[in-house]
Amino acid sequence: MLVLGIESSCDETAAAVVAGDGRVLSRLVANQDAAHAPYGGVVPEIAARAHVEALTPMVAGALRQAGITLADVDAIAATAGPGLIGGVMVGLVTGKALSLAARKPLYAINHLEGHALSPRLVEPGLAFPYLLLLVSGGHCQLLRVDGAGRYARLATTIDDAVGEAFDKTAKLLGLGFPGGPAVERAAATGNPKAFAFPRPLLHTDEPHFSFAGLKTAVLRAVQAHGQGPSADTAADIAASFQAAVIDCLVDRTRRALDRAGPVEALVVAGGVAANLPVRAALQALADARALRFVAPPLWLCTDNAAMIAWAACERIAAGLPADGLDAPARPRWPLDPDAEAVRGAGVRA
Ligand code: KG4
Ligand code: ZN
Repeated sequence: MLVLGIESSCDETAAAVVAGDGRVLSRLVANQDAAHAPYGGVVPEIAARAHVEALTPMVAGALRQAGITLADVDAIAATAGPGLIGGVMVGLVTGKALSLAARKPLYAINHLEGHALSPRLVEPGLAFPYLLLLVSGGHCQLLRVDGAGRYARLATTIDDAVGEAFDKTAKLLGLGFPGGPAVERAAATGNPKAFAFPRPLLHTDEPHFSFAGLKTAVLRAVQAHGQGPSADTAADIAASFQAAVIDCLVDRTRRALDRAGPVEALVVAGGVAANLPVRAALQALADARALRFVAPPLWLCTDNAAMIAWAACERIAAGLPADGLDAPARPRWPLDPDAEAVRGAGVRA
């Protein structure tokens, strides 16, 4: 079985061909960093237009690299949300058009399900259920993954996503965009104890997250250095910020493990999972509990289409039905529709 995957929900345009047995026949990603860099963040309209330009040749390229034609694929999977709606519509409409033209079933995939199931693409032995820490630019959640289409959300952020906090910190420090990798690089030479930044919600009962206060503390620290901090101070701020984030992620994940019931593994996914000190801290938490720890390779952590194609493979294997051509593009789409709203939770799915 071969699935063509399409991803366009944020600022990466991506196409991939994945086989049902987990072989990745091709995976192409074009990031739009240069287009958004002047603005220090993703501009939705610019993103949508860039997807329009990039996607069609990219789908052709993914098929070519896989050595197949559209006639050879068994299904088409496109991200249908959550995300920036203009971009989501570009990818979903492209998927629908290909599905109609080639008479192949369409799978309208939840981007979060793509991240959530991605570890099983590279770790075939990973069994359900596992606890997933999903940390990206738009999301910060702890989920128990019980199977394709079966998720229990244990925690979410009551304000910002953790990747957003990395991006904002990078912007304040003048480190450029995208912020996460830049903060990680700067932090490597800084002193994590130089600034006593807050650890919001640490030790609270429910394992929710909050990063707005930490972001404000970074702003104050930067403002305290009139003309902007020196490179050394910027490195200290980056290191102290990253240390605070890691303390929060580890404490919240520990608490979620206490509440999740028996799980087969602790898994981290999403763009922030590319951060090596974050990975190391979570690995230590898992080790302390004699729990398997899985972090997908970096290319699979950030947005890509292989995880979207793979989510369709998982759904097909679980006997879940294909979607109709009327499948909606959704700006918000929680993985666990039964999860209660959290006080302060506003913008994110
Ligand atoms: O999953 P992703 O590619 O897109 C979303 O679905 O949001 O995640 C992108 C986010 C950005 O906020 C980026 O700054 C962050 O992941 N990120 C990192 C690192 N690499 C990417 N954050 C911290 N350290 C990194 N090395
Ligand atoms: Zn993502």
